[in-house]
Amino acid sequence: MRHSSQISKLTRLKQPFLGCCSIFLVMALASLAAANEPAKPASMASPAVAPSAAVAPVAVVSAPAAAPVQAPKALKGDATVGEALYNNGDASRGVVACLTCHGPKGMSAVATWPKLAAQHGTYLAKQLKNYKDGTRANPIMMGLAATLTDQDMLNLAAFLVKQPPPQGEVQNKASIELGQLIYRGGIAAKGIPACSACHSPNGAGIPAQYPRLGGQWAEYNATQLAYFRDGTRKNVQMNMIAVKLSDLEVKAVADYMAGLH
Ligand code: HEC
Ligand code: HEC
Repeated sequence: MRHSSQISKLTRLKQPFLGCCSIFLVMALASLAAANEPAKPASMASPAVAPSAAVAPVAVVSAPAAAPVQAPKALKGDATVGEALYNNGDASRGVVACLTCHGPKGMSAVATWPKLAAQHGTYLAKQLKNYKDGTRANPIMMGLAATLTDQDMLNLAAFLVKQPPPQGEVQNKASIELGQLIYRGGIAAKGIPACSACHSPNGAGIPAQYPRLGGQWAEYNATQLAYFRDGTRKNVQMNMIAVKLSDLEVKAVADYMAGLH
């Protein structure tokens, strides 16, 4: 709580600053628009995360009808090139085929490897960058991402985002109620916000920042929540939320999300 009130102080200080810098935000928006994935932060269900909503710059500016023409050219992904790299890798550069683990069209066969199908492009490219620069630590993916260029990452993301979303099943009938309660409404008494506020009611996520969670392997999502909780994986918003979740709550919400679509 102390932490979040500090953030809200910061956020308040930021308001006038955001006002006078709106021209830069507009430019940032233009490049987001060029990336073809406008960010749409959701309205926050709980006061505990209200600061995060204010932090997302796009929420406070309304987009101009026409983007400035002289905005810097953003790299664009090519889904066809991405598909070939995903399926075959590139032996000449040491790129391993993603399909080996993540399955055809991003639908992995076992929980060891996350499903990537229909995941938002900007999120996917960001994760690959994070593996490459080591800010997201995983021995397998760090080695693989090291062989990828920025353009490869965008191409792979452009291919994956177009695939049909995964369909899974609720994993544990006994904890559906708890899982659904947390996902849809959070736990106000513990300052846990509703997951749906950022990841959307059906788990599809909200491009560009908030990843799709619906239909993902429960074991994978539970592991990621544990990583956010102990700080192994860093993201200000998720770290603040995960520290408040008990093991039981992590498992219930991950089991529930596996069936969301
Ligand atoms: C040897 C198996 C293996 C191969 C090959 C592989 N991955 Fe992965 N990938 C993993 C594992 C395991 C994880 C989960 C790592 C973690 O917990 O952070 C993962 C995670 C990811 C994630 C993060 C997903 C999320 O929801 O945040 C992305 C993106 C990804 N891989 C993309 C790729 C791409 C693109 C390729 C091909 C260039 C690839 N992977 C090849 C095993 C593999
Ligand atoms: C304030 C917005 C916000 C809320 C509320 C929120 N999340 Fe997240 N979540 C994020 C962001 C942003 C990321 C991506 C982090 C990154 O880029 O590494 C994320 C990532 C995740 C991931 C990792 C997905 C992957 O593919 O690796 C899981 C799992 C997750 N959230 C679960 C939850 C659960 C469960 C809740 C509710 C208890 C929740 N989130 C509430 C913003 C939020």
